[in-house]
Amino acid sequence: MIRLEGVSHSFGDQPVLVDVDLELGERRIAVIGANGSGKSTLARLLNGLVLPTRGRVTVDGLDTRRDGAAVRRRVGFVFTDPDAQIVMPTVGEDVAFSLRRRKDLSPVDRARMVEDTLQRFGLTGLSDRPAHLLSGGQKQLLALAAVMVTEPAVLVCDEPTTLLDLRNTGRIAAMLDALAQQVVLVTHQLDLVLGYQRVLVVDEGRVVFDGPGGEAVEHYQRLMRASGEPPVGAS
Ligand SMILES: Nc1ncnc2c1ncn2[C@@H]1O[C@H](COP(=O)(O)OP(=O)(O)O)[C@@H](O)[C@H]1O
Ligand SMILES: [Mg+2]
Repeated sequence: MIRLEGVSHSFGDQPVLVDVDLELGERRIAVIGANGSGKSTLARLLNGLVLPTRGRVTVDGLDTRRDGAAVRRRVGFVFTDPDAQIVMPTVGEDVAFSLRRRKDLSPVDRARMVEDTLQRFGLTGLSDRPAHLLSGGQKQLLALAAVMVTEPAVLVCDEPTTLLDLRNTGRIAAMLDALAQQVVLVTHQLDLVLGYQRVLVVDEGRVVFDGPGGEAVEHYQRLMRASGEPPVGAS
C-alpha cells in the first residue's frame, strides 16, 4: 500500500502539489491531467525520486525520505523517454545491469533471468544488439524489461507511450495489462484508462477527481472545456 499523507510539494516558491492525501492499494491506478498539472511530480513522489516539501509518502510503511533505497527496490519507475533510462551499450547488458546488486545470483542464473525477461517483453534474439539501434517501441520495451527484471512490487509509469506510435502504444499497454504487479500509470491516452477502476484527475496541483475511468475522463474533459483547452487524446 502506498500512502500520501498531507503531501505538498513546491519547486522554489512555486507550489506544484497541494495537500494530497491518498491511499493507493488498487492493482491498476491511472493519473490524468493537463500538462504542468503535477502528474510527474506525483508519480516521482511514489518512489522517492521527489521528496515531499510537506507531509510524507510511505510504501508498505517505508518512508520515501528515510528509506529511499528500500522504497526504490519496491517501486520501479518507467520514464516517458527510454533513452533517459537505458544505460548500457547492448540490450542484454542493460537488463543485466539492473541485477548488479543481486550478489546471490550465479552468472548462469543471471544470464537466464536476462534471457527470460527479454523473451517476456518481446526482445528475444536482441541481447547483443546495440540499444541505440532499437526502434522507439523496442527501446521502451527494453526500459520496461530492465525495470521488471528486478521484480518490483509496484510499477510507476510516467507517460510511457507518449513518444510511441499506435502499434507500440498498444504493445506497451498490453504488457502493462498483463503484469501481476500494482501499476500506477500516468498518461494522456485517455482510451487506455477508460476501463480502469481508479483514475485520479490532477489539476493545478490537486487531485480533483478520484474514481472510475469513464467518469474520470468525463470530469477531465469538462475541466478542459471549462478552461478553454482541448484535452489531449480526446476525439
Ligand atoms: N525540477 C523542477 N524544477 C522546477 N519546476 C518544476 C520542476 N519539475 C516540474 N516543475 C514545474 O512543476 C509543475 C508541475 O510539473 P509536472 O509535475 O512535471 O507536471 P505534469 O507531469 O503534469 O506535466 C510545472 O509547472 C513544472 O514547470
Ligand atoms: Mg509529466
